[in-house]
Amino acid sequence: MKFMAFYPLSLVILIILVLFQVSNGSDLVRESCAKASKNDPIVHYDFCVASLEDAIIDSQGNNPPTSLGDLVAMSIQITKSNATNIISIISNLLKEDPTNSTKFLSQYSKECLKDCSDLYSDSLSDLDDAMRAFESQDFNTASIKISASMEASVTCENQFSDGNEESPLTDKDNTYFELNAMSLALINM
Ligand SMILES: *[C@@H]1O[C@H](CO)[C@@H](O)[C@H](O)[C@H]1NC(C)=O
Ligand SMILES: *[C@@H]1O[C@H](CO)[C@@H](O)[C@H](O)[C@H]1NC(C)=O
Repeated sequence: MKFMAFYPLSLVILIILVLFQVSNGSDLVRESCAKASKNDPIVHYDFCVASLEDAIIDSQGNNPPTSLGDLVAMSIQITKSNATNIISIISNLLKEDPTNSTKFLSQYSKECLKDCSDLYSDSLSDLDDAMRAFESQDFNTASIKISASMEASVTCENQFSDGNEESPLTDKDNTYFELNAMSLALINM
């Protein structure tokens, strides 16, 4: 009985702690996102706050951000997991499925998707470089690497439009562009 009563209490305390840290981090997030979106109109305030707060909630109270530098690192990390997800979305799109005619892709689109997958892989290593540069306070190199990472989404999207093909990745490419813009805006504050 004692144990049963103790367990929910510790759970409640844990939840309160997590919520407290989330709300603490949120002031930092809101202030930083307000500045970031003011400095760079590509970065939407709501997008910035939602992306960072989701990441804080996902981390379940581990290492909540306490500085702008923490937010930059989080932003780069979110972008990396985005790239990883996009690469697996592309690989699913490329899987042949003869029973599903809605999945038909032109040869041109398939080539584009393969290129996009390579671009996003390169982007992941650019982001690793960016993170290392940022950690050693080389903000210039970090910005250059993030700009290179950002280009992946633009180049990917352009390949489809160059061939007058509809891109199945438009919303993902746009989000990816904005995530990198967010990292850049946060670094340059
Ligand atoms: C990329 O990140 C954004 C912002 O956090 C999120 O809304 C979106 O679902 C992510 N996309 C993928 C494919 O992971
Ligand atoms: C067919 O492929 C499309 C695009 O990937 C997918 O959204 C849909 O759910 C698939 N339908 C079936 C029956 O598998």
